[in-house]
Amino acid sequence: MPKQSDVLSADFLVKIAEEFGTPVYVYHAEKIKTQYEKLQKAFSKTDARFFYACKALTNINVLRYINSLGCGLDTVSIQEVQLGLKAGFDPKNIIFTPNCVDLQEIIAAKDLGVMINIDNISILEQFGNKFGGSYPICIRLNPHIMAGGNFKISTGHIDSKFGISIHQMRHIERIVKSTRLKVTGLHMHTGSEIKDVDVFLRGVEILFEMAEHFPDLESIDLGSGFKVAYQQGDPETDIELLGKKLSDAFNNFNKHYKRPLQLWFEPGKFLVSQCGYFVVKTNVIKTTTATVFVGVNSGFNHLIRPMFYDAFHLIRNISNPKGTERIYTVVGNICETDTFGWDRKLNEVREGDYLVFYNAGAYGFEMSSNFNSRLKPAEVMIKDGKPRLIRKRDTLDDLLKNQIDVE
Ligand SMILES: Cc1ncc(COP(=O)(O)O)c(C=O)c1O
Repeated sequence: MPKQSDVLSADFLVKIAEEFGTPVYVYHAEKIKTQYEKLQKAFSKTDARFFYACKALTNINVLRYINSLGCGLDTVSIQEVQLGLKAGFDPKNIIFTPNCVDLQEIIAAKDLGVMINIDNISILEQFGNKFGGSYPICIRLNPHIMAGGNFKISTGHIDSKFGISIHQMRHIERIVKSTRLKVTGLHMHTGSEIKDVDVFLRGVEILFEMAEHFPDLESIDLGSGFKVAYQQGDPETDIELLGKKLSDAFNNFNKHYKRPLQLWFEPGKFLVSQCGYFVVKTNVIKTTTATVFVGVNSGFNHLIRPMFYDAFHLIRNISNPKGTERIYTVVGNICETDTFGWDRKLNEVREGDYLVFYNAGAYGFEMSSNFNSRLKPAEVMIKDGKPRLIRKRDTLDDLLKNQIDVE
């Protein structure tokens, strides 16, 4: 939950809902800047660079804004690369970190001039055979660290599909040597929502050890996983402490390596989670024998995190903020169990009231779908105090757009 001074007010959000309709995602651009500056400050004692992991939110206006801050871009699909280029990112500031894609997709990214991060032996060998040292690459390693808020977002453990195991170092070395690959970066990303600063330190120590096998390195990339608070008292990654401890360790390592390296990160959630608000309208209050349900005009097709990850999003009634507090279970309109929050204390909710979900910027709209043939919501960006529509709500035509009528 962002600090109160950072938060868009209930009145303001109600105005947006009335102007643009609901459900609507609202992004507060300046909050992204604040978060970016926090990272820069925390790592100001070392040579650090940040690449926004745009899988969290790819609206082109958000990408353009993040580019204007001087931040790089981390992408996982060729389409994200293309969106990044359209948004104006220099290819030199884009990292491509895909997983389980074929060589063609890697070559397509190479042809666009972006940095390539390879995460399996098969592609490493194929890429080396084809391009040798002519196109430098980065290697994603799996350090075998169990980290992250839950199993679905843990990516650095022994059973994870991500990265090349550190125990396959001899195999990597053989391929690099025989194909003359030029490896300029080592990467790891152990998971999302990592509270414990020491997990990053353990990870970086492993990469320092691995770095000795690669004479051409220019950067070490620690991915991301910075946890933000989703409610009052929720633990967060202590960015200042992390910055201090990692910078010390990194600066120390840099004294011994062949040349000074840069330290890279790929924050997604940290940059855009708190900038986002998801505003919905109450369709119906349904009292059953056990529960008072608030049924809203949205569902897990628009915000899947609660159902998919058991994630908590703080919900508030913004159109009756002084109403008596009551206990409600907030559900969506999807024809499946579709619960946003159980037993939430909300100011009395009446049919027609607007509710807001906080921290909805990351993995909100981006993971939305048209399940139940529902329309995807609109997106609005607030910059310099001005709300602007940055995505129209879907229409029925959008549902039919790619369908082919053969009758
Ligand atoms: C390789 C990589 N980098 C960065 C991120 C961003 O993580 P977060 O949103 O936790 O900052 C992810 C998330 O899945 C990732 O897989």
